[in-house]
Amino acid sequence: MKIIAYGIRDDEKPYLDKWSEENPDVEVASTGELLDDSTVDQAKGADGVVTYQQKPYTASVLDKLGSFGIKFLSLRNVGVDNIDAAAAKRNGIQVTNVPAYSPEAIAEFTVTQLMRLLRRTNTFDRKQANGDLRWAPDIADELNQMTVGVFATGRIGRAAMRIYKGFGAKVIAYDIYHNPELEKEGVYVDTPEELYAQSDVISLHAPATKENEHMINDKTIAQMKDGVFILNPARGALIDTDALIRGLDSGKIGGAALDTYENEVGIFNTDFGSFDKIPDERLKNLMKRENILVSPHIAFYTKRAARNMVYFAMDANKSLINTGKSDKLVEL
Ligand code: COI
Repeated sequence: MKIIAYGIRDDEKPYLDKWSEENPDVEVASTGELLDDSTVDQAKGADGVVTYQQKPYTASVLDKLGSFGIKFLSLRNVGVDNIDAAAAKRNGIQVTNVPAYSPEAIAEFTVTQLMRLLRRTNTFDRKQANGDLRWAPDIADELNQMTVGVFATGRIGRAAMRIYKGFGAKVIAYDIYHNPELEKEGVYVDTPEELYAQSDVISLHAPATKENEHMINDKTIAQMKDGVFILNPARGALIDTDALIRGLDSGKIGGAALDTYENEVGIFNTDFGSFDKIPDERLKNLMKRENILVSPHIAFYTKRAARNMVYFAMDANKSLINTGKSDKLVEL
């Protein structure tokens, strides 16, 4: 049996080598390159492919895999929104993901960024770099005095809720699916509108779907409290960036932490050499603001997560090849 792993970073390589040592029955090939039209031929002769979301998996790539007789594609990450589902289906390609490599990694980072926003650390860092060590006017807010609205209570949303509660915040949530434990606690509101109206902070943890594209838009921003803080460690597509910028310009939005951005493909996890060379004016507009924290999709990026992403995806791919089954199969 042969599995090829694409996009293997230096920090993942030791985990892949260890998995390979522990699974001598599997021939493991790997490349640092991402799976795309220019690299897909390297998969010829493999039984399964392991990769992760950094760019779309297009029909032409999936058709190529299909033509090589490859039926098993295992993602090392949670989101499956960048797979051409129709092409995967017509090629009979089964897809697995890793739904829980470390929900805490993402939750901890989200709250870190919120605390930075509330305590104005970005502003103080910038002031200090210019020799300005004064306090005013950058007085902070306290999380324990605030209501945090968590949009979507999957594993990551729930991990974030635990931390918000630890800080003493009032936590409310919206989700179409109600978690039984949270239901008992009575945290759910019935509509997104209620969440927007009551929350000082909105923490987004939903996957990207056709239905929720640009769910944060001019209309929903208008339903929010004045000075609201918005956190998006989930998917860039949830936020209409132009509406966000309008909300920031008007002062309606107090700040935002964006670990995802709707045009991030080809931009995040790339070194452009200087700020000016970042090829996205809207992103630069956001990055220049003191009340915006942009981070290049790093909430997931911890040692534990990297290890689990490699191990769980390799295990899932091997299981699919051996048995046609995996508990990590996703419905596309
Ligand atoms: C995910 O797990 O879906 C992420 O957003 C992390 C990233 C490696 C794509």
